[in-house]
Amino acid sequence: MPIALQIARVDALQILDSRGRPTLQVALTLDDGFVAAAAAPSGASTGENEAVEVRDGGPAFGGAGVAGVVRTVAGRIGPALTGRTWGTIGDVDDLLRELDGTENFSGIGSNASVAVSIAAARAFAHAAGAEVWRWVAEALGTTPRLPVPNFNVLNGGAHAPNRLAFQEFMVAPIGARTFADAVRAGAEVYAALRGRLRAQGKLAGVGDEGGFAPDIEAPQEALDLLVGAIEDAGYTPSRTGVAIAMDPAANGFGTRTGTYVFSGCEHDRDEMLDLYAELVRDYPVWSLEDPFHEGDHDSWRAITAHLGDGVQIVGDDLYVTSAERIDRGAAQRETNAVLIKPNQTGTVSGTFDALRAAGRHAMGAMVSHRSGETLDTFIADLVVGAGTGQIKSGAPSRGERVAKYNRLLEIEAAEPALPYGLTPRA
Ligand code: PGA
Ligand code: ZN
Repeated sequence: MPIALQIARVDALQILDSRGRPTLQVALTLDDGFVAAAAAPSGASTGENEAVEVRDGGPAFGGAGVAGVVRTVAGRIGPALTGRTWGTIGDVDDLLRELDGTENFSGIGSNASVAVSIAAARAFAHAAGAEVWRWVAEALGTTPRLPVPNFNVLNGGAHAPNRLAFQEFMVAPIGARTFADAVRAGAEVYAALRGRLRAQGKLAGVGDEGGFAPDIEAPQEALDLLVGAIEDAGYTPSRTGVAIAMDPAANGFGTRTGTYVFSGCEHDRDEMLDLYAELVRDYPVWSLEDPFHEGDHDSWRAITAHLGDGVQIVGDDLYVTSAERIDRGAAQRETNAVLIKPNQTGTVSGTFDALRAAGRHAMGAMVSHRSGETLDTFIADLVVGAGTGQIKSGAPSRGERVAKYNRLLEIEAAEPALPYGLTPRA
């Protein structure tokens, strides 16, 4: 049945994200009184080609305010959304692109577009009488499944004030039977890691994504801590049991010409390739994201050729959730997987395009939060509906991180027949 969505009223509000920086919340009130709300997340280690957030500048909030974006939603987007009938999310997103008038949402701001688009997605699901994840599955023609959570339990890079250059060290309970069991494993490993760090006198608070931020430096030190914590918690560290995912986020310490500087040393491309090969040999790393700078294309091709058979190589800053960039990367065999972050592309339909591109190329697709988050749980429904089988939403700790995991627990409880886990590798 065709949907005829009518939006009676549009409200926008400046709220705070998990880092204490302003972000945008949007609420669409429908004709039947239902309120579809959403809030924009915000990254710290952003790709060069991401859709662009608009912020106020000036003295308030160190320039990070979004009062101007609130005015854009209230004064320009709202009047264009009300008083007509909407058939698809694509129509709403086309309007946003038209009002924006740029290639990268630098006109109205990707913070405005993503919040409005996610709220509209919720509104369409409501109009269809469906849970958001089911609406996503219908829009994409996919088979829903519950994802393997990749819990970011050790934070470095741009997300923590320590010497660890690599940004994220995650535990992924691939072998769990259910999502609830995976959450249990993640929480138990997190607690075991805390115990280990305390015993070693290294416990020193958490980073932006809720992972511990001990003052360690070498990636091997981080991986040893993780393997130890997985064992302490009574699990098997392995690629089929409780595995490890890493996001070095190499834009943060590398260049497009293939030079990588950390721990006081400069490493060239071959040294980095050797290091990654060694880490993958010595530790149960199942997924490796942004191992190289987004412009260092030769290195991407080399690592996917060398390690791509046994390990997932994920492009985040490399692709910025752009279907065109994913198509190009697939043609060049730069990765075998993509990261999916709705605010990198700025709309839900742009996110769907990126997911479709990944599907066309039989690439893995990990749905992701940002380091600056709110309680918005859209990505939980998105990953279930898209059925890609993997998500990262930070540690099993801090409200804005667990909000997504808790939403997934709710979905599983309501639909126990949904399968859990990675999709079989093509
Ligand atoms: P960001 O980090 O949200 O700060 O960009 C997440 C990531 O790099 O995956
Ligand atoms: Zn990343």
